[in-house]
Amino acid sequence: MPHDTSKLQPATQCIHAGYDPREHHHAANPPIYLTSTFEFDTAQACAKAFAGVPEPCQTHIYSRLTNPTNEILESRLAQIEKAEAAVSFSSGMGAISSVFWTFLKAGDVLISSNRVYGCTYALLAHQLTKFAIKVEFVDFTDIQKVKEVCNKYKEVAILYTESIQNPTNDVVDLEELAKIAHSHKAKFIVDNTFASPLGCNPLQFGADIVVHSATKYLIGGICTAGCAMGSAADMTMVRFIGLKDCTGAVLDAAMAFAMIQGLETLDLRVRCMSQNAAKLAEFLEKHPAVEKVVSTGLPSHPQAELVKKYIKIPNGLFSCYLKGGYDQCCTMMNKFQLALRAVSLGKTHTLVNHPASMTHSTYSVEEKLKYGIADNMIRISAGCEDIIDIINDFKQALE
Ligand SMILES: Cc1ncc(COP(=O)(O)O)c(C=O)c1O
Repeated sequence: MPHDTSKLQPATQCIHAGYDPREHHHAANPPIYLTSTFEFDTAQACAKAFAGVPEPCQTHIYSRLTNPTNEILESRLAQIEKAEAAVSFSSGMGAISSVFWTFLKAGDVLISSNRVYGCTYALLAHQLTKFAIKVEFVDFTDIQKVKEVCNKYKEVAILYTESIQNPTNDVVDLEELAKIAHSHKAKFIVDNTFASPLGCNPLQFGADIVVHSATKYLIGGICTAGCAMGSAADMTMVRFIGLKDCTGAVLDAAMAFAMIQGLETLDLRVRCMSQNAAKLAEFLEKHPAVEKVVSTGLPSHPQAELVKKYIKIPNGLFSCYLKGGYDQCCTMMNKFQLALRAVSLGKTHTLVNHPASMTHSTYSVEEKLKYGIADNMIRISAGCEDIIDIINDFKQALE
């Protein structure tokens, strides 16, 4: 088993990075440290750990800060997202809010893409604003507009986007956005959930911090989880300010173990979902009941050039616009026999969601209209079932 896994392929890193069985009684799977607290040899060793200069064998204090199982997971996550360091969380929202609380203060300006996950939108639009943080929403597929809005302010604290936007599946120009962020001394924070670390690595294109709802591809939907990745300095701040003091959204060691297991099959699942999504999207694009499909797996994607540049594996999720509106979506959704009517993505089951009335119901009717969260749009997360069965289910649902 190689120790330096940094030069290996991502699929191999997903299985080997961060763990050496020889350091753990040759156990093929890592141990689960189910403990809240850690004992110190001496009172002086306690003081040293609290002062941030622990004895090498006494680095853990309390599991809300660090835990050995989570550490294995975090070094694996950092490697696959090509980051110096990672912090694990109990949910994607735990990761996102911890990062925001770490780097924002009253009076700051945060500029966000206007199409983001519904609860991220609620946090930005309705919660952070309670703390005198100015939040502006812009169409991040329009670089000129982003520049114009940033130029209104002397300083911008954070530029925030999703690499592939929820729920419309637009792809943003990460390099251009990073340039804008850095010319305003802002941190460029990217939610990379839709792409997965195997599909895109925003840190390589200038992002400062990447966050994930690890609930999705990374852990495969068995529980909620999250992570943030970036420089070691930023992740230390996120851990000791955002996680330790602000949110406490710590990932339980048992669930850290579950994610380590999940990562072992990440490459297989991501590729299977990607292929199934592309085939299903192709079928739906030609169907007479469908107005249009937006999928990174189809040549018709509106930002095909950006897909080519940034997306290594098309994501397993796409948006499908039916001819008609909400009623047609309901009729179709109620007929599924295999696909689950459920939020989320990256699960082995195919999932079907109506964003306007489900994940994105946090947007007002006017905002949905303005930002393109259409009533006739269904968001489809292809699972790992046989594509013949998936397509047959959609065929009968559209009859
Ligand atoms: C893009 C994106 N970011 C963040 C989240 C929030 O993650 P979690 O549900 O794990 O808190 C979600 C959830 O669906 C999401 O789709």
